[in-house]
Amino acid sequence: MSTLGPISEAGTGRQQLDVDLGARSYPIFIGDGLLSDPACYRPYIAGERLMIVSNETVAPLYLDALRSGLAAFEIDQVILPDGERFKDLATLNRIFDALLERRCGRDVTIVALGGGVVGDMAGFAAACYQRGIAFIQVPTTLLAQVDSSVGGKTGVNHPAGKNMIGAFHQPRAVIADTATLATLPDRELAAGLAEVVKYGMISDRPFFDWLEDRVAALRARDATALATAIARSCQNKAEIVAADERESGQRALLNLGHSFGHAIEAGTGYGTWLHGEAVGVGLVMAAQLSVRLGWLAATDLDRIRNLVERCGLPTEPPADLPSERWLELMAVDKKVQRGRLRLVLLKGIGEALLTADIEPALLQETIDQAIRR
Ligand code: NAD
Ligand code: GLY
Repeated sequence: MSTLGPISEAGTGRQQLDVDLGARSYPIFIGDGLLSDPACYRPYIAGERLMIVSNETVAPLYLDALRSGLAAFEIDQVILPDGERFKDLATLNRIFDALLERRCGRDVTIVALGGGVVGDMAGFAAACYQRGIAFIQVPTTLLAQVDSSVGGKTGVNHPAGKNMIGAFHQPRAVIADTATLATLPDRELAAGLAEVVKYGMISDRPFFDWLEDRVAALRARDATALATAIARSCQNKAEIVAADERESGQRALLNLGHSFGHAIEAGTGYGTWLHGEAVGVGLVMAAQLSVRLGWLAATDLDRIRNLVERCGLPTEPPADLPSERWLELMAVDKKVQRGRLRLVLLKGIGEALLTADIEPALLQETIDQAIRR
């Protein structure tokens, strides 16, 4: 259970939260207009040089503003193609090529400007280049501001499985400028809400209740509602990451809905379904299986399905992914232990648990019923 207590809406002023990891602790700054504020970056830049990693969509929107705040540094940049399908080793190599072409040493700091794809790849490059250099996350999607920029999971996909190649490498700082969300397409905003709902379902029932109340405001991009949801999500994530940085226990709960979701993403071809859309369906399927196991009340499943739907997300998986394929894909999961599938399921809203105690027939039934509708 989260220790966060009731929700109070924060307003839109600058907020700072901290991820408490001893010597590797770092701040998360959340606020309107942070992108070009040098004070947010300066203390976290290792040397005099920066390599900004962004993509073809985000760079034309925000690269100049970012560079304007960092004029005191020597800046290079590498602009990647946009899309989950480019979250692979070949594209990652373009970051190494740029670092080497520019003869960057270990004192270069990578700045990841973009959504979760850019952040995961830039972070992985930072983890590997010359055995590890500093990086700063500047997330520009809701999903990245509430989840992927925090916690140090970095990596790329493999055709056989999502995020299968990667490293834990914490950023020096996370700078979430909420103004960047103004240009985010509605579909991407909805995808980010899936990860927000996830926190409420895992361990923060007051947040789930608040989301039921404020989901329309979030979709309408109400600044106060968004700032509150981002801060509360980051508080949830920071608490879990501080307790279990390398996922030896509690952190696995952050994968609620992801075993189902990753199967959808890999099975349909990366990028066809957005990560957050697949997670939204995964949240509903995890709840459906929990009801089948007799752990979760059917009324709670209804609340979860309704909230996911009200976020503007699909609640049913693609009909054309056969169930044998689901089971194959779900078997390639980082939570598999000694060949046994483990899933994050629910005893209630705000009460998630990791379990291997899954009746295979009930899992099969959950998938079959979901694809048959
Ligand atoms: P994304 O990075 O693909 O961004 C979504 C789209 O929005 C892209 O087309 C991007 O170019 C565009 N975009 C980004 N910012 C924009 C802006 N401000 N205005 C307009 N367009 C903008 O996707 P995502 O949803 O941010 O991240 C999904 C990825 O994150 C997945 O690969 C997932 O595996 C990963 N992830 C990682 C973690 C982690 O802990 N590391 C957690 C959750 C998800
Ligand atoms: N998004 C899962 C994690 O950070 O652990």
